Amino acid sequence: MNPNRKSIIAGNWKMYKTTADAVALVGALKNEVAGITKSEIVVCPPFTALAAVAGALAGSNIQLGAQNVHWEKEGAFTGEIAPAMLKDLCVRYAIVGHSERRQFFGETDAGVNKRAKAALANGLRPIVCVGEMLAEREAGKTEAVVTGQVRGSLAGFDKNQILETVIAYEPVWAIGTGKTASPAQAQEVHALIRRLLGELFGADVAGKVRIQYGGSVKADNAKELLGQSDIDGALVGGASLKAGDFAAIVKATV
Ligand code: 13P
Repeated sequence: MNPNRKSIIAGNWKMYKTTADAVALVGALKNEVAGITKSEIVVCPPFTALAAVAGALAGSNIQLGAQNVHWEKEGAFTGEIAPAMLKDLCVRYAIVGHSERRQFFGETDAGVNKRAKAALANGLRPIVCVGEMLAEREAGKTEAVVTGQVRGSLAGFDKNQILETVIAYEPVWAIGTGKTASPAQAQEVHALIRRLLGELFGADVAGKVRIQYGGSVKADNAKELLGQSDIDGALVGGASLKAGDFAAIVKATV
């Protein structure tokens, strides 16, 4: 972490929680993290629970995020969700390009780029996910893969757009596997991403962009990961599904 950047801890609930379970979870979480202002706290429930969670979070220090967003305003796009539909529900952040979307639903950098730009045009902040697969790391391709994803996903961004964007580095081999990247491994890629942002937008702007780490972040490894100079937060999957576990990660940044 770096004092010039406000840390951001986001919970990606993936395809978990009915509405009732979601409301119960944020009810408990609100109490656990009450009064914390040093970090931004975000929860990203499934679309079906957004409205109820928005109501439950009103007036709290927890912000709402969605797990994806489409680039068109409206239209015949079965199964997709428009930016304005999310704005309608007080959503502030939208994850785009998560590795599960890339792996299982064919999302590409070009599509992620369109989603991120549509989010920004509608006052939503995109959390743009990048990260290499295990075989790519083992083949020494981490830098090339991540560089390509960052360049492709952020193509055509201007300085104002990148300053409203959060990048999440999530090595695919660390997601849901219990195998966290070591703090040094994560820091190395975060530093690489920040250098690349420097090339694209200038060092001054790059120094202000927040880069989250994701992949088996838990209460017991969060502090060390978040202690790295270019790690500005966490995108948390499994451990965001229990209020106490997620709150412990939030508190690791405080
Ligand atoms: P886990 O924390 O369950 O490894 O998931 C990480 C993730 O994919 C967050 O987006």
